[in-house]
Amino acid sequence: DFYTVVVENNRWQMYLTGLGNTICIALVAVFIGTMIGLIVAIIKYYAVNNKKLWLLDKLCDLYITVIRGTPTLIQILIMYTVILSSVKNGVPVAMLAFGINSGAYVAEIIRAGILSVDKGQSEAGRSLGLNSNMTMTLIILPQAVKNILPALFNEFIVLLKETSVAGYIAVQELTKSADLIRGRTFIGLPLFISAGLYLIMVVGMTALQKRLERRLAKGDNR
Ligand code: ARG
Repeated sequence: DFYTVVVENNRWQMYLTGLGNTICIALVAVFIGTMIGLIVAIIKYYAVNNKKLWLLDKLCDLYITVIRGTPTLIQILIMYTVILSSVKNGVPVAMLAFGINSGAYVAEIIRAGILSVDKGQSEAGRSLGLNSNMTMTLIILPQAVKNILPALFNEFIVLLKETSVAGYIAVQELTKSADLIRGRTFIGLPLFISAGLYLIMVVGMTALQKRLERRLAKGDNR
């Protein structure tokens, strides 16, 4: 009858809204995170040989330690209720908070990616007469990218699921949508539907990631 039709329409609309918010927050956050992570990684790279950068270097360490050492949920709550308390819309707040959270992880992803390139590669570059910047950009980074890009996919997958806590700051992302529908209907099905939607996205991302890895591995003889 008419009533059920309205509720049904509404319900799928709610999943759609949730899905849209979840994807937007994760995409923007991984972008902000990558920018912050790059900057932090670059600062830390130059700080090794430049004593003047020690304070910046220490600040980067502090950022990484604090962000990785405290729950993401508390970080977004602080962002929403203290730092950006005047912003009523939780979506941009979530994007920023998750982005800042992600930056600390991305900084470590980039660092690990650079460290994973064998030391012999930079020694070879320097032996050929390249300076340290050229060795970095021409020899180390192109190889580090093979580790960094797939790891950034992982980071996106983590963020996609992590955004499920944004319901705490009044964002109607996928989990919140499902829980609202559950609250109306008193059955657990919406939770399984939302879980299925996350799963589809994660499996899809993982397939893309595998393809990317295979492409990047072309020309590797190992
Ligand atoms: N859920 C964990 C936490 O609250 C892990 C967060 C991981 N975040 C990330 N951007 N990789 O600390």
